[in-house]
Amino acid sequence: MSKKKVLTITMNPSLDVGSEAEDVITDEKTRCEEPVYDPGGGGINVARVLTRLGVEADALLIAGGHTGNKLIEMLEEESIRIHTIRSRQDTRQNIAIIDNSAGKQYRFVFPGRVPDESVWIKVLDQIRQSISAYDYVVASGSLPEGVPDDLYSRIGKVATDAGKKFVIDTYGEALMKGIRSGAYFIKPNKEEFEDLKELFGVSTDKDLLDKMFKSGIEQVVQTFGKEKTVLHTPERSYEFIPPTIKPRSTIGAGDSFVGGMIAGLVNGLSRDKAVCYGISAAASTLLSEGTDLCDKDEVERIYLENYGE
Ligand SMILES: Nc1ncnc2c1ncn2[C@@H]1O[C@H](COP(=O)(O)OP(=O)(O)OP(=O)(O)O)[C@@H](O)[C@H]1O
Ligand SMILES: [Mg+2]
Repeated sequence: MSKKKVLTITMNPSLDVGSEAEDVITDEKTRCEEPVYDPGGGGINVARVLTRLGVEADALLIAGGHTGNKLIEMLEEESIRIHTIRSRQDTRQNIAIIDNSAGKQYRFVFPGRVPDESVWIKVLDQIRQSISAYDYVVASGSLPEGVPDDLYSRIGKVATDAGKKFVIDTYGEALMKGIRSGAYFIKPNKEEFEDLKELFGVSTDKDLLDKMFKSGIEQVVQTFGKEKTVLHTPERSYEFIPPTIKPRSTIGAGDSFVGGMIAGLVNGLSRDKAVCYGISAAASTLLSEGTDLCDKDEVERIYLENYGE
């Protein structure tokens, strides 16, 4: 096991509920199968992926109520190391229902409940107190209502001031502000990148990248789903092509990329090869059934077959 340690932050976790029905109908009851529960939330998934890939990761998360208890229980069962900040507000649930006759999935995503101010202050305090134990800090996923939208920027400042590598994967204002304190890498998808152009008031990719590198971002990994992944550094931009696969489910691909890329870096790969390792982790997750994440042996196999020397 690698000695480098990663802290992931999840401000808006969820207890994901999945089920299926023959037909999803309107105005009447849709009878569903037994529900399946999964832990949800960007940082939580990144920590789960890192743990599967043999990297030491701690997940810092907010949890409340019986849904929060269930979430914690599931993470403990999976041997994920967690640090919980308790909230008086229940952890949200997100619901995914497969309509078997149409072969489609409906995903209902709820906003997180507004946490008391003391909760997000405790998160910041906890990060400040424990920062020396980590090499990477990953802020991933949405911020719940009521939490200041510069929170990721504040977390980033704590991390970078302590000489740690900060990674951020979110969208909109939280991402734009998070970028202000610099980051080791960010991973916007196509839409998130376009939104950033608007938020930064620029019209070309080059102007946006210049602005981001000026604010201290070291690498921008732009993902385009199955099409390509582009690594931008201040010196150059380089394209990588994901392997051709038949995805079984798209849940967790982005988080698997982030976990995979960090695992690659922690294990001494160059940054180009670490991007390939991230792409391989995402592919493995896409090949897994339902909400399951990547498998280390499969990640290694995909990596060697597609990107090995
Ligand atoms: N059909 C596919 N085949 C192979 N790889 C894919 C496919 N779709 C996505 N990926 C991989 O998934 C990763 C995430 O890319 P994507 O652009 O989908 O990010 P995202 O939209 O942020 O994902 P998420 O919705 O999970 O947050 C990339 O590493 C990409 O290579
Ligand atoms: Mg994403």
